[in-house]
Amino acid sequence: MKNLISMRDLSKQEILHLMEVAAKIEAGDIVPEMKRKVAALLFFEPSTRTMFSFDTAMKRMNGQTIIMSGTQNTSAKKGESFADTLQTIAQYSDIIIMRSPVEGSARLASEIVDVPVVNAGDGANQHPTQALLDLYSIIKTQGKLENLKIGLAGDLRFGRTVHSLAQAIAKFGAEFKFISPKFLQMPQYIKDDLSEQNIKFQEFVEMDGNIDDLDILYVTRIQKERFADPEDYEKVKGSYILEKSMLSNVKDNLKVLHPLPRVDEISTDVDDTEYAYYFPQAKNGVYTREAIIHILLGGE
Ligand code: CP
Repeated sequence: MKNLISMRDLSKQEILHLMEVAAKIEAGDIVPEMKRKVAALLFFEPSTRTMFSFDTAMKRMNGQTIIMSGTQNTSAKKGESFADTLQTIAQYSDIIIMRSPVEGSARLASEIVDVPVVNAGDGANQHPTQALLDLYSIIKTQGKLENLKIGLAGDLRFGRTVHSLAQAIAKFGAEFKFISPKFLQMPQYIKDDLSEQNIKFQEFVEMDGNIDDLDILYVTRIQKERFADPEDYEKVKGSYILEKSMLSNVKDNLKVLHPLPRVDEISTDVDDTEYAYYFPQAKNGVYTREAIIHILLGGE
């Protein structure tokens, strides 16, 4: 692994190795050392979890971070190009972790600089580090990744986390239920990818009545910021909400995951049920991102 841009680039073996390293880091069996290493966190889009968990991960390993949160106070405002900004930041850092609203920008960045680039979300395309922490959360709660029944619910069109997760867990033989308003269905290219691998999926509009046979229910926010027409957002907003009452017949092992932030798609009364796992999931992001940095900077 030289960069981490898309889940499509990772083999099953690389994913399993990363999971193993994350587990060893969590258990204290590997203590990566990043003294004098600097991670540049370039966030052209807002973030709470991805930015702060990467920052935490680097600091837990005794490394340091330089952070750009928006371009407001940078020379991009004076007209500096993306390529020149990247080339400059690469002079100061050992790894670049980048989020951008532009699809393909992380791949482009990796072609410009010599240091490893991590895609921390590129538009509606990919969010591979989220998918890896999701897989880590699934292993921790289900004891395996193979042959699980996974429901992906919400904004499957613009939600980059579900694109990355579907491609990632498909490598382990999952069966999917895609639950979304018709306007926000899973893109055809992802469905074609799954069909080529003989992965089964069904599409539903309603969440209620379609979650009782699931091992994982992964709920996502409707991505308001990606709608070209605000009227389209108004038509689908609040169109599905997971209520506690909908969990009365689910499997004992079900876990509800969510990449967060949540708007209104999971009622807060779900939070204190045995099924809710979204806040521990966010914590798992630190171990997973420590493992990602460790491996990309040459660790075993
Ligand atoms: N899950 C996730 O990407 O959250 P942030 O947008 O807060 O980083």
